[in-house]
Amino acid sequence: MVKVRDYNYEFISVRPFAPNLGAEVYGVDLSGSISEEQFADIYKAFLDHQVLFFKDQKEIPPDRHIAFGKRFGELHFHPAAPTMKGYPEIFEIHADKNSKVANGEFWHSDVSCDEEPPLGTMLQIHIAPDCGGDTMFSDMYSAYNTLSEPIKNLLGGLSATHESEHLYRGRYVDRGINDKDTIYPQAVHPIIRTHPETGKKALFVNRTFTTRINELSPSESDRILDLLFAHAEHIDHQIRFRWSINDMAFWDNRCCMHRAIWDYWPEERKGRRVTIKGDRPQ
Ligand code: SIN
Repeated sequence: MVKVRDYNYEFISVRPFAPNLGAEVYGVDLSGSISEEQFADIYKAFLDHQVLFFKDQKEIPPDRHIAFGKRFGELHFHPAAPTMKGYPEIFEIHADKNSKVANGEFWHSDVSCDEEPPLGTMLQIHIAPDCGGDTMFSDMYSAYNTLSEPIKNLLGGLSATHESEHLYRGRYVDRGINDKDTIYPQAVHPIIRTHPETGKKALFVNRTFTTRINELSPSESDRILDLLFAHAEHIDHQIRFRWSINDMAFWDNRCCMHRAIWDYWPEERKGRRVTIKGDRPQ
């Protein structure tokens, strides 16, 4: 039963998670067909709420998951991650008692090391631990808006390098990925980006990929990045989502970060992720 409703939508039911970030979505079956009207409402809700949690879902067949992703744009192929057999667009999220690492354990915006980092990511979880395995999200509009004016002015003229070699090299060897000859991406992005669809400003650095501020000395860069990471990860900007089987989350990497909590070892958690290509941050 949906208790609090956002009445701006006619063809889906939207229940805000927090005033500025996140919403649960009811009344649409992602494993079936989605009408143009429902799709328009979903798109609007995505821009309004930054991360949507589609509830009461059935397992979405891989082809349908891919087709739903493609309605938002061309799909992104992950530079490092293991994919589902026969579906290179699908990144398999999996951790169990044999895992040495789990995906997304530190705050990040997906693959921000790409020249054109992903617009958004859709993850459906099929196997979840009895408790734990939550995913946290942090609102980067709010992170920007709550900076003081002098800091906003300073950051407005700065760019940062986002790298991935340190993260990806050898990471998936236990899942059969040999990356001896792989060259991992790196890119330079503005620290403050303007969302191409909402026109709102967001902080765009994260502790997983962002390694330095290009215009500053190394010690200045380290200290200001520390300040920005702590600010972006402040609890005031966050929500924490507890998964039920077959929930699908769809987050906007241009204006929020996320972090997956690996507190359930030796239990298993498994899902499928489709990622949509984005554009160069401005
Ligand atoms: C990720 O895509 O970063 C992982 C998210 C999750 O497993 O909840």
